[in-house]
Amino acid sequence: ETFLAYFETKGHQRVASGPLVPQNDSTLLFTNAGMNQFKDVFLGRDQRNYKTATSSQKCFRASGKHNDLETVGRTSRHHTFFEMLGNFSFADYFKKEAIEYAWDLCTNVYKLSSDSLIVTVFREDEEAFSIWKDHIGIPRDRLFKMGEEENYWSMGETGPCGPCSELHYDFGVSPLGHLDCTVDCDCGRFMEIWNLVFMQYNRDSSGTVTPLPSPSIDTGMGLERITAVLQGVQSNYDTDLFRPLIEESCRLSGIAYGENEKKDVSLRILADHSRASAFVVNEGVIPGNEGKGYVLRKLLRRALRHGRTLGIDQPFLSSLTSLASEMMQDSYPELTDSRDYCARVVEAEEEKFNSTLSHGMQLLDEIVA
Ligand code: SER
Repeated sequence: ETFLAYFETKGHQRVASGPLVPQNDSTLLFTNAGMNQFKDVFLGRDQRNYKTATSSQKCFRASGKHNDLETVGRTSRHHTFFEMLGNFSFADYFKKEAIEYAWDLCTNVYKLSSDSLIVTVFREDEEAFSIWKDHIGIPRDRLFKMGEEENYWSMGETGPCGPCSELHYDFGVSPLGHLDCTVDCDCGRFMEIWNLVFMQYNRDSSGTVTPLPSPSIDTGMGLERITAVLQGVQSNYDTDLFRPLIEESCRLSGIAYGENEKKDVSLRILADHSRASAFVVNEGVIPGNEGKGYVLRKLLRRALRHGRTLGIDQPFLSSLTSLASEMMQDSYPELTDSRDYCARVVEAEEEKFNSTLSHGMQLLDEIVA
């Protein structure tokens, strides 16, 4: 709310989240960024009655170019489902204002210490580099040039793209005990909180890159990440967005969180996957063997497998998806309506998976014998 209200005071139109299942875009299975619903506006094929916008977008990254499925649970900050806060300019402001807004919101509104923020820019983007260095005054030792992999953002194999600049939060301490690492270390000391994309190009299916009709802005801040920073915890899973789901998973399995890393991974996977499943089922996706249904099936079965690893031997997943729906209902009242339906979908999949697994184990036992 703070994010959206801030950009409203700067004249941005508050726009509701688009659906998780993209409408009219065959290049994506699921919405993967706040800019998806504005893709045609960036490309100059659609016009809105506003030139700047702000949103909190439901995103799901478990397929396609942006796929965090295998990372979830193993890190403290990746999710399949997450909410992306963003501000957008469609041929209105560009790099300078986008950087000014980001710095102002972080340091004056969220009151993050400027010493705790590290900035990266694309190595060829001298303009962004000098805005940060000379206009904002970021010291040289907290401003880094990075390559394409880190600082050039594309929506998918095709579509809008451009160089970007990221803000990273420095927790000052590394969970792994590193003392002198820098922003590209993945030890957990640094967390990317905001990505400012300077949308300038469109990539077509032949790989040809052409300039967009006008330079534009697309930013994305992970709600779960800024929440961790503002709640003073180093893991998204320790925020109030996930903690009740972890606690319920502990109750169901009789396992304590924080005592064994392998079990913690499973507990985090249950928290993430149950929340994501509640949202995906709410949009009418059901488990199946292809496309979106297959992604959902993979998600549910992965959660079920981790539940088994934790020793849960009775049906459990629907109690977690129901809890996730209740936790998110203030912002997404539609989850209340689909809560019981979602529980039935999950229970049916659980039953099917258990019988597949029992049959498979029997076959395996026979072969091994
Ligand atoms: N589209 C960019 C991202 O997803 C910024 O919003 O990171």
